[in-house]
Amino acid sequence: MLATESKDNISQKGQEVQIKILRFDPDKDKTPYFQSYRLKHERGMTVLDALMLIKETQDPTLSYRKSCRMGICGSCAMQVNGKPVLTCQTQIKELNSDRIVVRPLPNYPILRDVVPDLRNLFNQHQNIKPHIIRTDMEEVNNPSGEFVQTPEELEKYLQFSYCVKCGACLAACPTCATDESFTGPQALMTAYRYVSDSRDAGLENRLEALDIRDGVWRCHFAGACSEACPKGVDPALGIQLLKKEVFKLRVLGLKKEPAPLALKPANVGHRKDIPKAPERNVEK
Ligand code: FES
Repeated sequence: MLATESKDNISQKGQEVQIKILRFDPDKDKTPYFQSYRLKHERGMTVLDALMLIKETQDPTLSYRKSCRMGICGSCAMQVNGKPVLTCQTQIKELNSDRIVVRPLPNYPILRDVVPDLRNLFNQHQNIKPHIIRTDMEEVNNPSGEFVQTPEELEKYLQFSYCVKCGACLAACPTCATDESFTGPQALMTAYRYVSDSRDAGLENRLEALDIRDGVWRCHFAGACSEACPKGVDPALGIQLLKKEVFKLRVLGLKKEPAPLALKPANVGHRKDIPKAPERNVEK
């Protein structure tokens, strides 16, 4: 083969691709079915671009979910050629096939076409109390300063804060496929994000969601969640580290002291050339 020749099936602009999309309207259909569309591949076209083009030019009844189109909001996750991906980040060219199959994320009920019902994901996320919990909640509600956190302490949880809640990890998880009540990789990983935050002391408050039959111990470390995450987060790692934290508290009785307030810098008053911050107006 010449060095300039490409193995790509669809690297040519204008080449036709076939897109098979799972369709389901709960008001009309008894079971989901596939519908095929053909369109011309444009350079740089993503799977989401293709769905939008199909909706605009061929079938206005097609439903999908999207918002930012830049891999930030997590709403466009679907299963494309067997893998859970963010469709706005997946170029048709990189699939290296002129046949593309688009389904809603597995392990969720289907609301319509390729739109999954993510309520379970968000309920589980809420259950693990995804926020800083401290013993001095008065300080959290009426802050008088900043809590100390070193760059090394930040590193411990930083990657886990990149989650966009797209649901791809649950779609890939073999335990989620067989146990609907499993807390799931997204919520467990997020629990570790907060538990490993030096400012947090809330592991005990989260135990009722974590140290249960369908909680952290139900993860069998298949690792599929980490492979599927489109943001490069490693939920499987977070879950194993969370098991260690739960063990340390439940078996060894080790409790964590949350980071204290930072000392106020000496002799620094309010600079007159900088306007004062507005009064706090958030409901307590
Ligand atoms: Fe927001 Fe794809 S549309 S992540």
